[in-house]
Amino acid sequence: MENGLIDRYNRKIDYLRISVTDRCNLRCFYCMPPCGIRKLSSQEILKYEELIEIIKCARELGIGKFRITGGEPLVRKGIIGFIEKLAGLGIDFSLTTNGILLNRYGRDLFNAGLSRINISLDTLKENRFNRITGGGDIREVFSGIDAVRKLNFSPIKINVVVMRGINDDEIIDFIEWGKRELLNVRFIEFMPLSREDYFYPLKVIMDNIIEERKMVSVEVPGSGPARNFKSTDGDNIVGFILSRSEPFCNECNRLRLTSNGMLLPCLFSREGVDLKKVLREGGDIRGPFYEAVSGKPEKHNLNGIGQYQYMNQIGG
Ligand code: 5AD
Ligand code: SF4
Repeated sequence: MENGLIDRYNRKIDYLRISVTDRCNLRCFYCMPPCGIRKLSSQEILKYEELIEIIKCARELGIGKFRITGGEPLVRKGIIGFIEKLAGLGIDFSLTTNGILLNRYGRDLFNAGLSRINISLDTLKENRFNRITGGGDIREVFSGIDAVRKLNFSPIKINVVVMRGINDDEIIDFIEWGKRELLNVRFIEFMPLSREDYFYPLKVIMDNIIEERKMVSVEVPGSGPARNFKSTDGDNIVGFILSRSEPFCNECNRLRLTSNGMLLPCLFSREGVDLKKVLREGGDIRGPFYEAVSGKPEKHNLNGIGQYQYMNQIGG
């Protein structure tokens, strides 16, 4: 085994987020461009066999943790078989989904060997969910959450992107809901990937909530940059990801692979390294990994907003 991937700022890169599709069964206003997206053709998308080859190579390079994202990963045909293959590799992996299809696929995913799952849910209100997601039905997400809960996925994390003027009034509701339903809830600061910025700072609110509710800080291995807390009378965990109030770029350990095979050094990278091209030309795909790692910026420059990239293309 090599020494692993170390970047110019001495960060060890050992985590890869993989978007398996740019498509989604929802149309969240902050994620999808309003005019719709050009859908990638099946030739443009990395095949499952190609993804497996990339993952094996990544593992040899010291990447030990993987996340499957989208778009919505569960809309891609054959996803259950792919999860089964991943489980067969014995790697540490998890999946992020909007939950719409979990009622249908929860059991298959669990049987295929998936044990950890993150569900994105930005509101608990039916009408608001419908507006945010461009027509989604929140009841499908709730039944999906119920389905995976019965299956003993552990942990189940609910990710809430807090947005100014959109859902910033639901933080307490989410905390109480999480406690009641025994679900871990994580609040995430909005990242300015498209034209509009809905940033709602969470630091002060986090401090107030922790104090008022007498919550205590807990260490949760594998929870990345989240700051985690527990109430003394509850079992669930509440997390805050302060990507902008307290940027954690200095601890960044990740690369991203887009569904069309570009390796991105940073969420805000304008361009990536064309891994698919090297792979399809039969080249050594370790090259693109080294290249992406050496291109990792020290930190994201949020003042230079204007990338006009959308999350469905990058993979949350
Ligand atoms: N900032 C923070 N998180 C985002 N997501 C999408 N766009 C943003 C953004 N601008 C999250 C959502 C989505 C997941 C894939 O990434 O939770 O469902
Ligand atoms: Fe789909 Fe998630 Fe984007 Fe919403 S935010 S459109 S659920 S990928």
